[in-house]
Amino acid sequence: MSRAGQFLWTESGFVHIVMKYNNMVYRWHVNIEDHVRREMAVMNIAGEQVWITGGGSGLGLACARRFTADGGTVTIFDLDDAAARGEAAKIGASVVKVDVADEPSVAAAVDATVGKTGAPRVLVNCAGIGLAARIVGREGKLSTDVFTRTIHINLIGTYLMMSHAARAMLACEAVDGTDERGVIINTASVAWQDGQLGQAAYAASKGGVASMCLPAAREFGQFGVRVMTIAPGLFETPMTEGLPDDVRAAIGGDIPFPSRLGLAEEYALLAAQIVENPYLNGTVIRLDGALRLPRK
Ligand SMILES: NC(=O)c1ccc[n+]([C@@H]2O[C@H](COP(=O)([O-])OP(=O)(O)OC[C@H]3O[C@@H](n4cnc5c(N)ncnc54)[C@H](O)[C@@H]3O)[C@@H](O)[C@H]2O)c1
Repeated sequence: MSRAGQFLWTESGFVHIVMKYNNMVYRWHVNIEDHVRREMAVMNIAGEQVWITGGGSGLGLACARRFTADGGTVTIFDLDDAAARGEAAKIGASVVKVDVADEPSVAAAVDATVGKTGAPRVLVNCAGIGLAARIVGREGKLSTDVFTRTIHINLIGTYLMMSHAARAMLACEAVDGTDERGVIINTASVAWQDGQLGQAAYAASKGGVASMCLPAAREFGQFGVRVMTIAPGLFETPMTEGLPDDVRAAIGGDIPFPSRLGLAEEYALLAAQIVENPYLNGTVIRLDGALRLPRK
């Protein structure tokens, strides 16, 4: 483009502007890629505190591996601290024992960790259980105990870790060069939408996790904290190891593409992508290869 006395052209990622004004010539050379990167203000996890609940196994462990490989300082919060310690030692992560369903346990774990390493920049909530039971079982046996336990661990546990960690996160400085203080990623399940027979408790707990994503994002947005939820399909983890081979093969074969169970690394990849992308907020992402669960 050119007007009298003005020239503007682009070349190898630069915009060059030359302008003549009052017999003076002004030149600007702007590196567009640098400019765009600065405008996007992508969060870099290197050197930041990353907390992962349920990080001793499965999806959480894959996240712990991914975020340590990316340079984050990872703390695993898990009830099974013995198993978690074995895994954490291999990747240089720390472990804190916690029962996410118990508020005094969460408060003590969070306060001690903040006192030691500061507030988290990222919280990934993966702690959870996958019990199945009919609402009215054989001979009229009700499954209220399964329902209560599942809601306590999956839903209330996620809420407790989110709220206690967020209090510390909201008070910390924004990441250098960004307006972001942190990112919270909770784990639902595709069962929040297509719960199968026997999944009333599990689906209700994951529906709660999915539903609180938007109000949490709305509340924390003013502080520069994003909240996202991942709803995985069926993944290869110890939680699904117990399924008979024929059931796993049948489910895998029904998944449009790729026709297999998800890999924990694919969950961790999405978690890392959520952390990086500043415009992902307040929504639930199904990570499922287009799987839609059948009735049973
Ligand atoms: N694997 C799947 O196919 C799948 C699918 C959808 C959703 N999910 C969800 O993903 C999350 C992780 O599942 P996973 O497959 O990695 O399971 P997993 O069993 O491999 O790991 C769960 C971890 O949570 C910990 N945990 C359980 N109860 C806890 C408590 N009260 N306090 C602290 N830690 C506790 C366990 O010790 C374990 O380390 C769960 O919330 C699960 O519901 C899994």
